[in-house]
Amino acid sequence: MTKILEVKDLVTKFYTLDGVVNAVNGVSFDLEEGETLAIVGESGSGKSVTMMSLLGLIPMPPGKVEEGTAYFMGVNGRHDLLKMSSEQLRDVRGGQIGFVFQDPISTLNPILTIGEQIAETLTRHQGMTKEQAKKRTISLLEQVGIPDPELRYDAYPFQFSGGMRQRVVIAIAIACSPQIIIADEPTTALDVTVQAQIVDLFKRLREVMGIAVIWITHDLGVVAGIADRVLVMYGGRPVEIAGVDDLYEHPRHPYTLGLLGALPRLDDRKSKRLASIKGSPPDLLIPLRHCPFAWRCEHAFDRCWQEIPPLITVDERHQTACFYDLDKGGPRDG
Ligand SMILES: Nc1ncnc2c1ncn2[C@@H]1O[C@H](COP(=O)(O)OP(=O)(O)O)[C@@H](O)[C@H]1O
Ligand SMILES: [Mg+2]
Repeated sequence: MTKILEVKDLVTKFYTLDGVVNAVNGVSFDLEEGETLAIVGESGSGKSVTMMSLLGLIPMPPGKVEEGTAYFMGVNGRHDLLKMSSEQLRDVRGGQIGFVFQDPISTLNPILTIGEQIAETLTRHQGMTKEQAKKRTISLLEQVGIPDPELRYDAYPFQFSGGMRQRVVIAIAIACSPQIIIADEPTTALDVTVQAQIVDLFKRLREVMGIAVIWITHDLGVVAGIADRVLVMYGGRPVEIAGVDDLYEHPRHPYTLGLLGALPRLDDRKSKRLASIKGSPPDLLIPLRHCPFAWRCEHAFDRCWQEIPPLITVDERHQTACFYDLDKGGPRDG
C-alpha cells in the first residue's frame, strides 16, 4: 500500500494575550491510498488545528506551525506540505486535496451561483474551458445526489437546504479528482437523517473514485460506519490508533475505553454522547509535561505524571500512548 500522507511530530501553537495555547503537541499518523481514517476527540482536542496546519490555513499570527513534517505524495512527487509556499499550497488545496468543513455556508460564496462556484474550481485547477466546466459541473452535481442538476446549476446557496449545500461543497471537493478529502465534522451541523445520507455519499465516492478520506468528528458513533482506521486525539496528541473493529473490540487506552463507554446504546436513544468521562479536558495554556489524560484517568500512576507517553505499537497496526496495560491490569513492561 502506498502512503499518500505521512505526518510526523506536528506541533502548532497560538500566541495569544492569555498565553501560549499548545493546540497540537506532536501529532504523527500515516494515510494510505484509498483509506478512510477517522480522527476522533472531544471538542478542543486539536483536530481542526491539525488539519488546518497541513493545509496552510492557520491564521499566522497568532498561530504558528513550529515543528514537524507532512509528506504528501502528490502528482508532482513527494513533498512536505509544511515547506510549500502559499502559492504551491493553494494549488494543492482544492486540487489534489479537497476539503469539506462543518459549515457549508462559510465555504460557499453567497453571491455566486452553485454552478459558477464548482465550475470556477475546474477552470482554475484543471484549465477547462467554460463549456467543459459547465458540463462537468452538471455531472458532479448529479454524482453528489442533487436532483435536476441542469436547473440547480443557476441556483444560489441560500436556495438550498443545509444538506444540499453540503453536497455542493462535496462536489467542489471532488471536482478535481483529489487523492485526499479532508472532512472536518461534515455532518455535525446536519440533522440525523441527512447525516446518514452524507455518510453514504462519502462511502460511495470512496468506492467509485478511490479517494482517501480523513474524517474528523467528535462522535465515535458515526465512525463505525465509515472508517478503516481511527486515530483518537486528546489534548493535542494522538492517544490511540487502530483499525476500527480492533479499536471497538479491544481499546488499549483508558480514554478510548471511556469514549466507548459513553457511546449511546441503541436501546437508549436519549442518552448523550461523551458525557460520562469525569473531569474536563486539559488546559492547553499549560505546556505538557506528562500524560494529558492523567488527571482524568483512574489508572494513572507515578510514571504517568513524570513523562509524556509516546505512541507504542501493541499489536499489528495498533498503537497506544499509555503506560498502563489494560489487559494485564497493571503498568506496562518496559
Ligand atoms: N485562532 C486561534 N487562536 C487561539 N487559539 C486557537 C485558535 N484556533 C484554535 N485554537 C485553540 O486550539 C485548540 C484546539 O482547537 P481545535 O483544533 O479547533 O479543536 P477541535 O478538536 O475541536 O477541532 C483549542 O484550545 C482552541 O481554542
Ligand atoms: Mg474542530
